[in-house]
Amino acid sequence: MVERTLSIIKPDAVQRNLVGEILTMIQKAGLKIVALKMLYLTKKQAEGFYKVHQDKPFFDSLTDFMSSGPIVVSVLEGENAIENYRKLMGATNPENAEEGTIRKKFALDIEKNSVHGSDSIENAKTEIAYFFNELEIVG
Ligand code: CMP
Repeated sequence: MVERTLSIIKPDAVQRNLVGEILTMIQKAGLKIVALKMLYLTKKQAEGFYKVHQDKPFFDSLTDFMSSGPIVVSVLEGENAIENYRKLMGATNPENAEEGTIRKKFALDIEKNSVHGSDSIENAKTEIAYFFNELEIVG
C-alpha cells in the first residue's frame, strides 16, 4: 500500500550539517520526498507534537531538546513508507541500531537520535497535519 509518513531531522543533526546526507539516505532508500521545510519549534509546539509522551519521564528534556534549534520536517511517500522509514532510521537507542541505519551512523544518544518517523498510519496522518496542509504536499 502506498503510504505517507512524517520525518523530522532533529536539532542535533541539523546543527551538525547532516541534512543533506540524511535526505540522500532517504532518497536512496526509495522514499519520495513530497513536502519539505525547515522550522524552529517553540517549547509549546514541541509539547503539542509529542503529547502522546506527556506522562513519560523524558518528556520535559525531549521537548527542550526539540525546541533547541531548527529542524527539517518532510513528508515521505512510497510502498510501506512507514515501516520502510522506521527500518532506515534504526532503533530509537543508537546502541541497538543496525549498521547502515541513520541512527547507527549519526545519533548521539537515545534522546538526540537525529531523526523521527511516524509509527502508524493513524499517527502519520496526525503528525503530517501538524506541519503541513494539503496544498503543501506535492502528491
Ligand atoms: P522519537 O522517535 O522522536 O519518539 C520519541 C522520542 O523521545 C524518541 O525519538 C527519543 O528522541 C526520545 N526518547 C525515547 N525514549 C527515551 C528515553 N528513554 N530517554 C530519553 N529520550 C527518549
